Amino acid sequence: MKRKDILGLYDMDAAEIDGILARGLAFKAELKAGRKVFHALAGRSMVTLFYENSTRTRCSFEFAGKFLGGQVVNISAAASSVQKGETLVDTGKTLDAMKTDVIVIRHPAGGAPHLLAKTVKAHVINAGDGMNEHPSQALLDMLTMRENFGSVSGLKVAILGDISHSRVAKSNLYGLTKLGAQVSVYGPRTLMPAGLDAMGAKVCSSREEAVEGADVVMGLRIQLERQKAGNFPSLGEYAKYYGADGEVMKYAKPGALIMHPGPVNRGVELTSGLIDGPSSRIEEQVLSGVAVRMAMLSLLVKEDQDAYPRS
Ligand code: CP
Repeated sequence: MKRKDILGLYDMDAAEIDGILARGLAFKAELKAGRKVFHALAGRSMVTLFYENSTRTRCSFEFAGKFLGGQVVNISAAASSVQKGETLVDTGKTLDAMKTDVIVIRHPAGGAPHLLAKTVKAHVINAGDGMNEHPSQALLDMLTMRENFGSVSGLKVAILGDISHSRVAKSNLYGLTKLGAQVSVYGPRTLMPAGLDAMGAKVCSSREEAVEGADVVMGLRIQLERQKAGNFPSLGEYAKYYGADGEVMKYAKPGALIMHPGPVNRGVELTSGLIDGPSSRIEEQVLSGVAVRMAMLSLLVKEDQDAYPRS
């Protein structure tokens, strides 16, 4: 991997994405076989620096770092010197001074990981920045699809819901289109940003149109914390017109997979029947998350060993 940081899929080409997925699939097979002891991060330190809440991403990065033999420290902004007024750049300098090798950052402001990456020697991985990107989520989604279908190329993926506020949708759009999937999107007009077609998406005017012939239907979490003004009348109406249920799945290919980045608002983005049903891959996605983050870390640190030797 010829890069210092992983900040998004916007600037990652198909070959690089393929390389991460291939290694992620190998790690997933190891994890499924119960093996959790590896050495790619032995002697290396990693900090997770989270300015927003998280269960899956923070926990799976921590497991990934530990399974690879690294020393992992978790910082929550709520319990750090950020509360005393320390800037992001100064926090980064402090972690650099401790010879931190990798910083995994989640931040409510788009671009925060990019600023950090410019100002620290450590590798920086974006674990979600505002409404911009969530690259490790899209990579784990694509890994799950590749594992189930053998390839991402040629798949039809329908993404339903709050596209505007979704960093998951944006990273998936960049990644899926680069790997040759067709992506259809649908949501409330107020939650569909301009320019989706220029990003390679088919912008649909009903959920049935979006789901027609889909191999994968992905629901997105309603991001109530990013919506001060109501962009849709009620959660009940959102579920009926923009969520996925058994009725709309009749338009998808038989056996089409249900995916969701989590956390799910049950009965809003997806019905409980779909979440817990046989086509759901939501729990598989979680294990894919550990595996793909192991792949990202091991590839970055391998590059570090090859090209950025440290004293
Ligand atoms: N999908 C995702 O980012 O989940 P968390 O907010 O729990 O990390």
